[in-house]
Amino acid sequence: MTADILLALDQGTTSTRAMAFEATLVPIATAQEELPQHFPSPGWVEHEPEDIWRGALTTLRGALAQAGGDARRVAGIGITNQRETTLLWDRATGRCLHRAIVWQDRRTADHCARLRAEGLEPLLVERSGLLADPYFSATKLAWLLDNVAGARAAAERGDLAFGTVDAFVLWRLTGGRVHATDATNAARTMLFDIRSGAWDDDLLRIFRIPRAVLPEVTNCATEFGTTDAALLGAAVPVRGIAGDQHAATIGQGCFAPGMVKSTYGTGCFAMLNTGADPVASRNRLLTTIAYQLDGVRTYALEGAIFVAGAAVQWLRDGLGIIRDATEAGVLAARADPAQQVVMVPAFTGLGAPHWDAGARAAIFGLTRGSGRAELCRAALESVAFQTRDLVDAMLADWPAAGDTVLRVDGGMVASDWTMQFLADVLGAPVDRPVVRETTALGAAYLAGLQAGLLPPPGPGGASHWRLDRRFTPAMPQAEAARRHALWQDAVRRTLSA
Ligand code: G3P
Repeated sequence: MTADILLALDQGTTSTRAMAFEATLVPIATAQEELPQHFPSPGWVEHEPEDIWRGALTTLRGALAQAGGDARRVAGIGITNQRETTLLWDRATGRCLHRAIVWQDRRTADHCARLRAEGLEPLLVERSGLLADPYFSATKLAWLLDNVAGARAAAERGDLAFGTVDAFVLWRLTGGRVHATDATNAARTMLFDIRSGAWDDDLLRIFRIPRAVLPEVTNCATEFGTTDAALLGAAVPVRGIAGDQHAATIGQGCFAPGMVKSTYGTGCFAMLNTGADPVASRNRLLTTIAYQLDGVRTYALEGAIFVAGAAVQWLRDGLGIIRDATEAGVLAARADPAQQVVMVPAFTGLGAPHWDAGARAAIFGLTRGSGRAELCRAALESVAFQTRDLVDAMLADWPAAGDTVLRVDGGMVASDWTMQFLADVLGAPVDRPVVRETTALGAAYLAGLQAGLLPPPGPGGASHWRLDRRFTPAMPQAEAARRHALWQDAVRRTLSA
């Protein structure tokens, strides 16, 4: 039997999806499930680990069934995941000691403030490439060790395992035989030295994390282990792991320095490949490992904004002015061009490059003539303006990037209107690929690479990437600059300090 199918598992913040691909990376099956969210206190966000596991298994089985059902045909599984989300489990029973603390969770904001007050942020940035923010895993893991009865002592005895979602799913898939993660997920914990590619003793000491809880860190494409035969009908090798934004970078074929992708989901994450050297940001972007293949690390600058598609969700669920997300683009295209409504969607503060947790959303420029169409346009425009701020910060940090072409993916890129406005505001081409599930595509690529079915990344990009449509800037530059200046003024008025 030829193993000619690749399975990708994309365990995201709000849903879990598995996709089957032919060995040439043509998608052939998709199974998806919502992931329940838990908000036990204001600012706290948790996931039930058993929901994560059940969703992973069910969707993997679903995609496999649609692809013919024979697990012996699967050449490899690639796992990609919501990053930073933190789990801690008992090595003997495999049970988690607490719900997963999700990347969006702000419960450790005080801990981060203390780190900043103690002057530790420069060291954190230098080693991990990350800022002292509750977003990352380290303070979440410290919280679990300090707040779950008996956890710290058990961790010190070596009885507990820590992992991001990839490591937890891998552990479960392999029947508790493998405790490992890949370098991209490790790079988001704030415990990992992104230059040496190893867990860092100083960071472990600062966060009081016992080394015994940590997973082994590997390349993104390697033999991670095989699944328990009972789970999918045969033992299947897990051959790829990468955090979701890193997998999207791979799926977008951003393999050459200077290439940049932007993924539009609930939030938006842009990543610029900076090649063999980690670039320190002077504009409050993150420095991260884009991917690690054959022991060679490729670095990226990353900008994260918290609200992109969520602004459209708010129009639908909060204001009730649209029935579904596609309506926003249709209405935006009809908005009165003379109106200058600007929305700053800082519903949960502002991410890069502002990192202002206290900022709150605001709408400026309303007149009696402003209606649904103008609000829709302002919401969609805010996504483009925020992307422009990220790309400007990237180019300021790393002018070597030169002329940018932005490769886009995620749900929002279906809107031609939004993509055209994005190109206008950036003053740069925006490329939308044929396969927009680039996160799953990247995970499948890693598994296919390890299985020897796909070639290693070449300097010209990837053979799997194909253009659907290029949006080229059409707005006069002066007009784009004027609109951007209005946006920047609105952001200034929204900042908390
Ligand atoms: O850093 C968080 C990011 O990995 C989450 O992505 O697509 O699951 O919201 P997503």
